[in-house]
Amino acid sequence: MNILITGADRGLGFGMAQQLLQRGHIVFAGQYMDDWNELKILKHNYPDRLHLIGLNISNQASVEEAKRQIEKVTDELDAIINNAGVNGRRTDDEPLKQNYDAMLAVYNVNTIGAIRITEVFHDMLEKGREKRLIFVSSEAGSITESKRTDFYSYCMSKAALNMYVKILYNRLHPDGYRFRLYHPGWIKSYMGGQLSDRGELTIEEAANRAIDYFFDQQVDENQLVLRGYDGNIHPF
Ligand SMILES: NC(=O)c1ccc[n+]([C@@H]2O[C@H](COP(=O)([O-])OP(=O)(O)OC[C@H]3O[C@@H](n4cnc5c(N)ncnc54)[C@H](OP(=O)(O)O)[C@@H]3O)[C@@H](O)[C@H]2O)c1
Repeated sequence: MNILITGADRGLGFGMAQQLLQRGHIVFAGQYMDDWNELKILKHNYPDRLHLIGLNISNQASVEEAKRQIEKVTDELDAIINNAGVNGRRTDDEPLKQNYDAMLAVYNVNTIGAIRITEVFHDMLEKGREKRLIFVSSEAGSITESKRTDFYSYCMSKAALNMYVKILYNRLHPDGYRFRLYHPGWIKSYMGGQLSDRGELTIEEAANRAIDYFFDQQVDENQLVLRGYDGNIHPF
């Protein structure tokens, strides 16, 4: 399969890229960070099947340029894994006061970024055989389960992402598209800016579970759920 992953420099995105390459797939890895070398090192092991594609999903021109780069290799994608995300600023000190610019920046990545990617790459998925649209969301976007008293922008951006995916599912599922909407667990990743030693899953474990759910497990394609890494369904 030809698979595009956003935010593949490090964390879950990198872990999934690694595992998909081990399985023999062709991976177009969205590279956002100029100063991070993991993908460049991985490229030595998979010179023909790993393609490093500069990609900032918060920027329309960058997304369109990424498409032009991929089109030099293929005009077909089988799956897109919308993984890139930012956690934004916490506001514990001033629980009601929001920083609107910071909030919009989180939305621009976590919500609109995934929309941008879907719109720009839709025609390449149309040409592919698998038509898999995969979104890494979070339990933090579940309105029903929410108990947090902070972390507004991240939670809101994921709730909005979930609604986008639901509408998109209603629209594209009849055309044969397969959807995965996923909470990957609490990962010892780089979301806080550096590798965290707090979390339930290592990057490798989280990537393993995610890839299993996205590509191996038999799921009921006739309903869209927000599925957790532990198999639980999180209500919207
Ligand atoms: N970590 C968790 O416990 C957890 C829990 C639930 C859901 N998730 C979700 O899982 C996904 C992966 O997160 P992670 O834990 O692997 O985080 P991570 O280690 O920070 O990896 C995310 C990657 O996306 C990149 N990125 C940020 N902004 C981008 C942009 N505009 N365009 C393209 N790439 C961009 C990040 O770069 P920078 O490092 O420079 O920002 C980073 O390389 C996210 O969608 C996150 O919301 C994570």
